[in-house]
Amino acid sequence: LKKSQGKYMQHSLLIAEPLETKIRELVRSQGSPFYLYDTAGIRQTCRKFTDIPYEPKSVHFALMANAAPQFIRIIKDTGLKVFVNSLLHLETALQLGFQGEEIVYAASAMDVPTMTKAQSCGALVVLDSPSQYEVWRRLFPNSGASIRCNIGELVQSKETLAGYFIGRESRLGFTIEEIKALQSDPNIIGLHSYIGTNILDIDYFFACYNRIAELAELFPALRFLDFGGGFGLAEEPSGELDMQAYGLKVSALMGNISRRVGRQIKLLLEPGRIIGGEDGYFVCEVIDIKQRSGKQLIGVNASCVQFPRPLFYPDSAYHPVALLQRDAAPEKEESLLSSVFGCSTYSRDFLSRDVLLPRAEVGDLVVLGYAGSYCASSYTKFLGFAEAQEHYI
Ligand SMILES: Cc1ncc(COP(=O)(O)O)c(C=O)c1O
Repeated sequence: LKKSQGKYMQHSLLIAEPLETKIRELVRSQGSPFYLYDTAGIRQTCRKFTDIPYEPKSVHFALMANAAPQFIRIIKDTGLKVFVNSLLHLETALQLGFQGEEIVYAASAMDVPTMTKAQSCGALVVLDSPSQYEVWRRLFPNSGASIRCNIGELVQSKETLAGYFIGRESRLGFTIEEIKALQSDPNIIGLHSYIGTNILDIDYFFACYNRIAELAELFPALRFLDFGGGFGLAEEPSGELDMQAYGLKVSALMGNISRRVGRQIKLLLEPGRIIGGEDGYFVCEVIDIKQRSGKQLIGVNASCVQFPRPLFYPDSAYHPVALLQRDAAPEKEESLLSSVFGCSTYSRDFLSRDVLLPRAEVGDLVVLGYAGSYCASSYTKFLGFAEAQEHYI
């Protein structure tokens, strides 16, 4: 079911035959809209991380990308741990059997009950500011903590999807001056950073990682470096992240740091989007079609609140689209400039805009790709539509 050459033409999605058969079966038996996940594909991406040669390491899936228990069980089976930023996701992680340092908890403006809960279950807690660190020290003088490092001053920071995560324009983490003020603090056990999301440039990862690595020498009790997530999904096959090259590079870097400080420093990573991102599909049915200003407007039985990334990122959410014809007739030659709109009255209720699709008919199916991360988990009650069902193959 993995993508094949040509899948990315003009935002159009090629659906392999076994997947199409499964989609049609599910529509017949369960109705739509729904998300469908390819379990084997999710596992395959997890293994790209567990195969990174460096040890000790631990890879924490970022639950904000997909917090469905069945999804989490799949990543857990492959050996991944979890990263959470809220008590609700912490609860989900605990219920699914993660414990202690298998959980990384990083957030900003954590109140005392939140810190207390995260500390009491033994999670690795990442603090966002000097005053948050002070509160932690007062509450738990004997518990080590890690700090989020804004290393933006030390690199040419880049804007990624959703803005700046490091540098002056980021609201997150300790500044370099604040980090240096803690030099030799024996309670600092980890340095954390998160440089941005949907990054495809390996050199940028390492330009940042090298700066974090230098900071490691400031802390005599440091046990781990957490480089966060940000692994991007390519919009064309040639732009894909080479995870094998990444794995070798990060292993060499960690080996060097460990040698420099004279002890094994553990590597932590927090991938979200890349885990299953391209192994999820959103399926809905064509209900109404309008021709407007030379464009085909395709109305479906789903709303953008059930598939919200185009709502959050109207200019940049990338979701290739396929139109599966009702009668499975050979695909029509003609392609029309088309937009897929939702079934509410909200003017911005679009699931896809300005893509080339064949002429649609009522009863056809619309399938949106790259729907495995930040899609089902971004559902909002706004507009009043139920969460879409989720199925796995
Ligand atoms: C601290 C942290 N770690 C990991 C992630 C997951 O990031 P991504 O989906 O870009 O890999 C996020 C997402 O916002 C995050 O804030």
